[in-house]
Amino acid sequence: MNTGSWEWFIERFEKISRIDLKAYKRPQMERRINSFMRSVNAANYQEFVNLLTRDKDVYRKFLDHITINVSEFFRNPAHWEILRREIVPLLLKQRNTLKIWSAGCSTGEEPYSLAMAAKEDRWPLKEKILATDIDREVLEKAGMGLYTAKGIEGVPTLYLKRYFIQQGANYRISDEVRQMVNFKQHDLLKDAFGKDFDLILCRNVVIYFTEETKDKLYRRFAEAMRPGGVIFIGSTEQIFNAREMGLKSIATFFYQKI
Ligand SMILES: C[S@@+](CC[C@H](N)C(=O)[O-])C[C@H]1O[C@@H](n2cnc3c(N)ncnc32)[C@H](O)[C@@H]1O
Repeated sequence: MNTGSWEWFIERFEKISRIDLKAYKRPQMERRINSFMRSVNAANYQEFVNLLTRDKDVYRKFLDHITINVSEFFRNPAHWEILRREIVPLLLKQRNTLKIWSAGCSTGEEPYSLAMAAKEDRWPLKEKILATDIDREVLEKAGMGLYTAKGIEGVPTLYLKRYFIQQGANYRISDEVRQMVNFKQHDLLKDAFGKDFDLILCRNVVIYFTEETKDKLYRRFAEAMRPGGVIFIGSTEQIFNAREMGLKSIATFFYQKI
């Protein structure tokens, strides 16, 4: 392998970060990385690796740039309505309690939306909602539960009153809701999955993965659910070969394990 080549870069980067860029779509990833390199005046991959090793700030910005961790409370509200009106009641017909995982939870908006919905709709949770992400820094933010006025735009006013405490210009999620979520660092491409989940959310995470990686990942999610369990995916996503994985579509963006 040539020093300074793309292959060399991804191998070095994996040593620095544990992130395996081979699993991501190369053209998009290369474009994102090259545009970032230009912004920090790195002329080639060797210079860039030196910079990433030396400068924690640049490294951090780069991670933000490639993992893209924007999120929103109740992202795609119409899909959350389906979750609450149809999917969860269906799950509760089969079992008395729910075991839930928000995979790729970013700064916490998704698992906290689940926790608020669980409070409002009185979902009987088997255990805390598991919320995982590869990125330690977003998990730290998630754990603090502090959001700007822009960040809480998707939150219904009633929930803002019930589940947030205003702190100056910001809003902090209440302890009651925070305690319902268990945040954990976890790489979906490398770490072991739990078992027996009733509901998994993996939304807007796989967009940069290759088709092969997505396929493997959805198979592992299917294995991690109990029969009848449901996976809720992002609004631009679709599970091809769902049947082969033992999944069937029960509503747009929701697949059930057969
Ligand atoms: C766009 S956010 C999605 C947040 C939330 N699920 C939503 O839909 O609003 C994507 C998240 O996936 C995480 N991610 C990317 N690759 C990952 C991996 N291999 N394992 C776990 N999380 C990963 C990123 O760190 C980022 O926080």
